[in-house]
Amino acid sequence: MTDQPQRQYRLDYRPPAYLVDTVALDFDIQENNTQVTAQLAVARNVAGPAGPWRLDGRGMRLVRVAIDGADLAHDAYELTDTALWLDNLPSVFELTIVTELDPETNLSLEGLYRSGAILCTQCEATGFSRITYFPDRPDVMARFTTRIEADAARYPVLLSNGNCTQAGMAQPGRHYAIYEDPFAKPCYLFALVAGDLGVIRDTYTTASGREVALAVFTEHGNEPQCHHALDALKKAMAWDEATYDLEYDLDQFFIVAVGSFNMGAMENKGLNIFNTACVFAHPETATDGDFARVRDVVAHEYFHNYTGNRVTCRDWFQLSLKEGLTVYREHQFAIDHGSPGVTRIEQVRMIRDIQFPEDGGPRAHPVRPDSYIEMNNFYTITVYEKGAELIRMIAQMAGREAFTDAVKHYLHKHDGQAVTIEDFVVAMEETTGLDLAQFRHWYSHAGTPRVAISQQHENNTLTLTLSQSTPATPGQPNKPVFDIPISLAVFDTAGSQQVPPQLVRLNHARKKIVYKDVPEPAVVSALRGLSAPVKLTQDTTERDLVCLMAHDSDPVSRWDAAQSLYMTHLLACVDAIRADHALPGLGDGLSQAITRLLADWPADRALLAEMLTLPSTIQIGEAFERIDVAAIDGARRAVRQQIGSRFEEELTALATAHAPRSTYVFDQDAAGRRAVFALALGYLAETGVEGIEAWCRTVYDEADNMTDRMAALGALQYCPGATRDRLLGDFARRFANEPLVMDKWLRLQVSAPDIDAVAQARALLQDPAFDFTNPNRLRALLGGLVRGNAPAFHRADGAGYALLVDEILRIDAFNPQMAAALAGLIAPWQRYDARYGQGMRAGLSRLDGAELSDNTREIVASGLA
Ligand code: ARG
Ligand code: ZN
Repeated sequence: MTDQPQRQYRLDYRPPAYLVDTVALDFDIQENNTQVTAQLAVARNVAGPAGPWRLDGRGMRLVRVAIDGADLAHDAYELTDTALWLDNLPSVFELTIVTELDPETNLSLEGLYRSGAILCTQCEATGFSRITYFPDRPDVMARFTTRIEADAARYPVLLSNGNCTQAGMAQPGRHYAIYEDPFAKPCYLFALVAGDLGVIRDTYTTASGREVALAVFTEHGNEPQCHHALDALKKAMAWDEATYDLEYDLDQFFIVAVGSFNMGAMENKGLNIFNTACVFAHPETATDGDFARVRDVVAHEYFHNYTGNRVTCRDWFQLSLKEGLTVYREHQFAIDHGSPGVTRIEQVRMIRDIQFPEDGGPRAHPVRPDSYIEMNNFYTITVYEKGAELIRMIAQMAGREAFTDAVKHYLHKHDGQAVTIEDFVVAMEETTGLDLAQFRHWYSHAGTPRVAISQQHENNTLTLTLSQSTPATPGQPNKPVFDIPISLAVFDTAGSQQVPPQLVRLNHARKKIVYKDVPEPAVVSALRGLSAPVKLTQDTTERDLVCLMAHDSDPVSRWDAAQSLYMTHLLACVDAIRADHALPGLGDGLSQAITRLLADWPADRALLAEMLTLPSTIQIGEAFERIDVAAIDGARRAVRQQIGSRFEEELTALATAHAPRSTYVFDQDAAGRRAVFALALGYLAETGVEGIEAWCRTVYDEADNMTDRMAALGALQYCPGATRDRLLGDFARRFANEPLVMDKWLRLQVSAPDIDAVAQARALLQDPAFDFTNPNRLRALLGGLVRGNAPAFHRADGAGYALLVDEILRIDAFNPQMAAALAGLIAPWQRYDARYGQGMRAGLSRLDGAELSDNTREIVASGLA
């Protein structure tokens, strides 16, 4: 029987008909298939609906169903391709289900699958129903026991959730292990790993003195790349104790790194499974950015042990309950382990560059969505990062201490439960005393609010007029008035504070704020640190921005003032290009500001690098009704060249002073120096200054680390010729056996502005050595083309769109999650100038006419709606 894809609605929630108390799983891993025997202790749930019971299941063979030990005949149950229906059940019973799976041919990377020498699982959101028939929903929480049996030589390591309680030899050549997880959990947190793995081990002693065994497993030979992750894990464990009094609750915590993984990582109880890209970090193969990312993802997954596992989601509409909160905790952790200003700047950039476009496009959805067809399409930047920003707003309004207490209260009150975002907000109100009635709109309404601030100044009275409005989003034509916390401060032109930083709540359509005894002129610094995820327009003058850039007490605001100055000039350049006029020059304010910055380097060099970085092309596109890819790219490159030529001497001095000289360490100061060096080198290369190729070659040849190597290769992207070819060739030979490094090479292969990037991408995709079943490879090559080389991808003849659509169709047949993510790249065609939009739309129509997975169809339909 074939089931049609069904749209699920949040308001249709019904409690489960049956609850599962315990699950005993037995995995019999054989050469070509795996047999799974599941024994469930089931009881009817009085709160749930009566009638037949649905167990989810797909992509496997049902061998046997028994109730209280008695086999069911084939006509005693109903089987469709996504479910098993049982009827006339006793109120308490034991259910036995035997299924047969084929992990070797499972390329969807959900359920049980192979990644190299490793058999592993990915169950969130609904992968468990590819392992056995089960009520695959997070509000069914059971205690799991898992027995794994496999060939001892091929799979010496056998792992599952919880604590290992038994292990030993089975029949000749085989062995087994039994794991018991004492905590009831939803099946999406189940995990199993079997393989021939290398490992590094350590221990952690918790605040109350319990010793926890820690380990990172990976395919042999990669162990040296895992120490940074293990170190990050210990930091995260200590941080959660110090910050939220949260102590780890099992005897062991394991991380397994696998090469084939759809996302970043997964927080399975006691047995996290990670994409190697989020574990491996060695100076010779990973950049500073990679080191930071590994640290933060390890912490993120660890933090889920409480925010997600101990307290989980009632249903998947509540995903942000665990993801928004865990991302927020990850952000706090990152800020405590790096430069606070620069870390926040990176978060702000992510919101503006990725979340705002999503919120203004066809896929816009609330942080708590109202409906979905395929849940995997809702692991979005909105649910994750905007969700984290909502929590950050609550934390700002409550104050750090009250907020921390409220989180503790929430975790205590709901320990062991599957709850809702509403439960979280209520817990916040109970402890902080905040009234969040109006604030709740943030969870239910999509779209980025626009805030405007204008100022009047008379007789030492400064009056600010704040107003808000929010554009319609698909399915939500009318927007409410949001409760928007806006952080404000006022300075004089010399930078002394006239009004200290304060948080005002814009909770009306318009609001006036009056400051008395403020002498003129006054410079208003608003939305400091992005205190709310909104787009701000403000009547600040160029002089105000130059002043804030130099004097604001908050580094994020200094950076933001620089962004506004750059943006004004960039927009003027885009307009000039579109009108075929000569480009405007840099302008006095901007020149003066950069001059000052380059004459007196901020001690935080990473901040200096950020302050010299122009808004991204995506960011520039956000300012337009329709995106003109070529004009925007042209403008950004032209402005970089203007800056490069005007400040050639200063940038050369900056690069010279920060050129690599000591051996690599990953710390804030050293990473900041490398960042500013790479930035200066990039400007000089783009400007084509004399001797730059030789300089890049020296940096590359003498580098003892990947960050400096990438700085040289990144700069050479602007310098076609023998040097670049030689170094790229050397890079490919040197790192041929490091797939994650070769991903960097793939990105470089398609991102140079002078090459035929689409032809290049097609050639690489057709290379027999290219593993197109691996998501990291696809992200590097296709992501590198679409996002890393927009002008080449959006070429006029539509060859870029044709290539992407060809690949989506090929990939959709085996990995729908990956294909759907790629389809999302052309879904927002209406945001683009018709020159591009028509081609993107044609690509969507071609997809629409093909046979597609539910995942990809949902994305295509949103684009064509
Ligand atoms: N819960 C994981 C995290 O830490 C993400 C898993 C997403 N999986 C998926 N198939 N969509 O963010
Ligand atoms: Zn997460």
